[in-house]
Amino acid sequence: MKVIIASSNQHKIQEIAYILQPFRVMSYTEIITECIINEKGTTFEENAIIKAQTVLKALKPHIPTLGIFAVLSDDSGLCVKFLDNKPGILSARYSHQGDDKANLSKLIQELGMHNRDSSPAYFCSALALLNEHMTYTMHGYLHGMVVNTPKGNNGFGYDPIFIPQNTTKTLAEISFEEKNKISHRYKALRHAKVLLKYWQ
Ligand code: IMP
Repeated sequence: MKVIIASSNQHKIQEIAYILQPFRVMSYTEIITECIINEKGTTFEENAIIKAQTVLKALKPHIPTLGIFAVLSDDSGLCVKFLDNKPGILSARYSHQGDDKANLSKLIQELGMHNRDSSPAYFCSALALLNEHMTYTMHGYLHGMVVNTPKGNNGFGYDPIFIPQNTTKTLAEISFEEKNKISHRYKALRHAKVLLKYWQ
């Protein structure tokens, strides 16, 4: 059973491959060239379905040679209470500059504009898991606080400013293994793993 990830984000793919072991995980870009995915949904779940369906459609000519497979997408982001739950589904595009560092700086700047140096926040990961016959969606959440001083060099995206509930370190200060035991993505992928075991 191949699990084809509807993403080219290497950070996400590494985390998903680690959590879904021993399943064989690959990016769809190992099979076809990157396709334009129009994330026009209004929720994480809608965008996850759009990503997975777009990739499944693009993979159609290759289906006879793929063997047993499933397409898995992850639409995720950070919702910050004192910023009216922004950046939310716009997490990857928050600064309009398309890079993680600029997004993180923009979030810190917005906190400052709201006279806050921290805020309750949560990460959400919405997954869509589909094959030619079925579509399933599942969610995972990680609650905590965002702070205005980035710490740590691990992880990606907003990890350096996010401190999970009941802990004192940011997600970028803990190891890859530790993050992937508690993360929003891990919590959603637990459910995906059960379905994959059933399908294989
Ligand atoms: P997507 O690729 O449209 O799902 O956008 C996801 C964006 O949310 C990423 O570019 C990051 O900015 C942020 N994000 C999602 N998951 C994480 C995480 O685990 N850590 C830090 N940032 C994340």
